[in-house]
Amino acid sequence: MAFDLVTAADKAKADPRPVPTLKGVHHSAFRCRDAEETRKFYEDILGLPLKAALVFEEEPGTGRPLPYMHLFFQLGDGNYVAFFDVPDGAHDGKFKMKWGMDLHFAMEVASMDEMMAFKDRLDRAGVPCFGPIDHHFVHSIYFYDPNGVNVEITVRDANHDAIMAAEAADAPAIMAAWTARTAALKAQNRAGAKPA
Ligand SMILES: [Fe+2]
Repeated sequence: MAFDLVTAADKAKADPRPVPTLKGVHHSAFRCRDAEETRKFYEDILGLPLKAALVFEEEPGTGRPLPYMHLFFQLGDGNYVAFFDVPDGAHDGKFKMKWGMDLHFAMEVASMDEMMAFKDRLDRAGVPCFGPIDHHFVHSIYFYDPNGVNVEITVRDANHDAIMAAEAADAPAIMAAWTARTAALKAQNRAGAKPA
């Protein structure tokens, strides 16, 4: 880490000016193997319209020649799922299936019927799809895109807000207990950490 986190957090907390609200996700971005392959998946299978396919010739910041495309698919709330198609260095290793706990993102639907309609659509298309899984506060299905990104479609449970309100009240105490419980293992991991 290029800065001291504890000092930075203390300084930020002591800053008397209000923190502006981060009102939502504008886009999440992932590397893709091929823009058109990714378009087929997100537009033709998942129904997200392609809204921009921006081609650039240089790496931002350095100016190094690097042809790439930044493409954006629009979600129902106006936010985007975005990808970078950077052919240079796009070897297969970058697109191995990621474990969901390492990386996934969730898109939300309004009802269980809509989520199951997606499950049916994916099943009919031959895209392996797991679930639905009952997470108590949400219900979800999971599948992989062509880039090894784990994708979730989720619907809020009828009791979602009450469950989350109760969880919010308990979260600080649970966090403290978890930090204490896992400290020794994490110290061991850091000591044995290999350079990235
Ligand atoms: Fe999730």
